[in-house]
Amino acid sequence: MTAINKCLFPVAGYGTRFLPATKAIPKEMFPILNKPLLQHGVEEALSAGINNMAIVTGRGKRAIEDHFDNAFELEAQLKNTPNEHYLKDIRNVIEKATFSYVRQKKMLGLGDAISTGKTLIGNEAFAVILPDDLCANSGDSVLAQMIELHKDYPDCCIVAVEEVSKEEVGKYGIVEIEAISNIAKNMQNFAFKITNMIEKPTQKESPSNLAIIGRYILTPDIFDILEKTNPDNNGEIQITDALLALAKKGKVIAYKFKGKRFDCGSVKGFVVATNYFAKAEGLI
Ligand code: UTP
Repeated sequence: MTAINKCLFPVAGYGTRFLPATKAIPKEMFPILNKPLLQHGVEEALSAGINNMAIVTGRGKRAIEDHFDNAFELEAQLKNTPNEHYLKDIRNVIEKATFSYVRQKKMLGLGDAISTGKTLIGNEAFAVILPDDLCANSGDSVLAQMIELHKDYPDCCIVAVEEVSKEEVGKYGIVEIEAISNIAKNMQNFAFKITNMIEKPTQKESPSNLAIIGRYILTPDIFDILEKTNPDNNGEIQITDALLALAKKGKVIAYKFKGKRFDCGSVKGFVVATNYFAKAEGLI
């Protein structure tokens, strides 16, 4: 059994779909209610038993490092006042988690961002959370569900997938799957072997409507493959292309997670998520 000790957060992207708001503020710091997207992601990793957060940042993202650091003046100001409880969640995160950072030099895509994280990860299997995909669960978090599955398949990568409408396939990496032989009964309808995957296919070439979302467990051999992966037509290195090499060897599993996912990288998804969480908290 290989434990997963580190979670990588690639957060160097430009957040173009959210301009002009993302010009000086990282989209990962946008709050759903009062909590930044990245903090939701870090809390998900903690809930899955991971304490080491490896963050791939870029220019203009300094607010992220400040957020996960002590703020002595604020702490002193609020100590023993009725407002001190507002600091409870972030204090808990700072106490339990350690944060390390590396900067992506050029925004050459998610694959390149993950490659940049190698120096923080080393030679072990690791989790990846894209914080703009916000997940909500009543039971175990999506990452916790995936780590449970990884215990049975320590040599495989696992990607979280979700059914999307055929109009939407062109926005995602889409997978083709087949059943895994001898899989545990409780996983039969949830975990599948990936036989092919295409990044942003046309409706016609799409092998299914199962889209990869922002949760991965990756084995360290992905780093060597990423180094050899050519950029796509937009000059970006796609993690899907690198994973395809491992899928061809039967080493990538698609996991249909339990729970809800919100695409908070788009304005519409962000609004839907905000409404969902506001309703859940009885605010609207
Ligand atoms: P997205 O495409 O969703 O994010 O990338 P983006 O590039 O910030 O947003 P748009 O498309 O311009 O609106 C998925 C994840 O990969 C990270 C992003 O920060 C996001 O978490 N990423 C993307 C990087 O870290 N580096 C990159 O070069 C590209």
